[in-house]
Amino acid sequence: MQKDKKMKQLDWENLGFSYIKTDYRFISHYKEGQWDEGSLTTDNKLHISEGSPALHYGQQCFEGMKAYRTKDGSINLFRPYENARRMKQSCERLLMPSYPEEDFVDAVKKVVKANEDWIPPYGSGSSLYIRPFVIGVGDNIGIKAAEEYIFSIFVIPVGSYFKGGLQPSNFIVSTYDRAAPRGTGAAKVGGNYAASLLPGKEAKERQFSDAVYLDPATQTKIEEVGAANFFGITHDDEFITPKSPSILNSITKRSLMWLAENRLGLTVKEGDVYIDELDQFKEAGACGTAAIVAPIGGLQVGKDFHVFYSEKEVGPVTMQLYNELVGIQFGDVKAPEGWIVKVD
Ligand SMILES: Cc1ncc(COP(=O)(O)O)c(C=O)c1O
Repeated sequence: MQKDKKMKQLDWENLGFSYIKTDYRFISHYKEGQWDEGSLTTDNKLHISEGSPALHYGQQCFEGMKAYRTKDGSINLFRPYENARRMKQSCERLLMPSYPEEDFVDAVKKVVKANEDWIPPYGSGSSLYIRPFVIGVGDNIGIKAAEEYIFSIFVIPVGSYFKGGLQPSNFIVSTYDRAAPRGTGAAKVGGNYAASLLPGKEAKERQFSDAVYLDPATQTKIEEVGAANFFGITHDDEFITPKSPSILNSITKRSLMWLAENRLGLTVKEGDVYIDELDQFKEAGACGTAAIVAPIGGLQVGKDFHVFYSEKEVGPVTMQLYNELVGIQFGDVKAPEGWIVKVD
């Protein structure tokens, strides 16, 4: 049962992934070597210097995570400390001060609680997307790290990726690279996403869901599926996912690896996934906070179109992984120790 009587009136089952101005965001400023305490504000506009390094040199990073309303009306965060740690790594890569992990999770809880009326009800399939970010600000023009920073978190109710249930979709291998081998691919920084806009647009123009990126050094191995990690299930029931220093280390993927091994009894491997060895997989999917577990129907590789399980139906292993993960997130399936953090 929904506890809150003041809930916003939205078409909860049919939300997309679009900006909606919710009531509160958290904001903290870094000056003279330290973060201030931070506070909630209703103002969704940032007033920053035109010289801010975030604007010119891409000195910024972000995170993406979700809050879920459970059947008993409580609020679940899914592995928020993992996002705090990854944001710290992204900050370090771009010479930005990181926000302390415990304070990060406290701030997430504060924003979610303050916007409780915007959390989609249990059963709608929708959830509250949480977007923390750090930007380098201040008067500047030279290519150097900022001296001042802003850490902020806002939230948006978002729909389930799949209206009317899980469905496979098709992808195309891009001829563009997403990130350099020793570049910033493993950090969640805006530049990686700016670079993916054109390949993503070209993929969509050809009716594909998104672009699949190969390893930039040899263009022979799968790296990322749009803004998600790749996984494949072999005919021998192995769960295989790419290992590379230039992909984002997906929290969803690491969770699926654990579930595949411990709940489904599969063998789990991180390694090279060669684009000319797709026949080894009976199923394949993309995974991430937004994509959750998205079955890949077919993959266009040059002139060839490779179908995994089916273009119409979801493979049984992918389905089981999806049900386990989503069940845990919404509180219906027992979570491994530490995966769920409650917002009280
Ligand atoms: C490039 C990229 N890869 C993978 C992922 C998946 O990461 P996570 O499961 O932590 O959301 C994301 C974010 O969703 C991403 O932007």
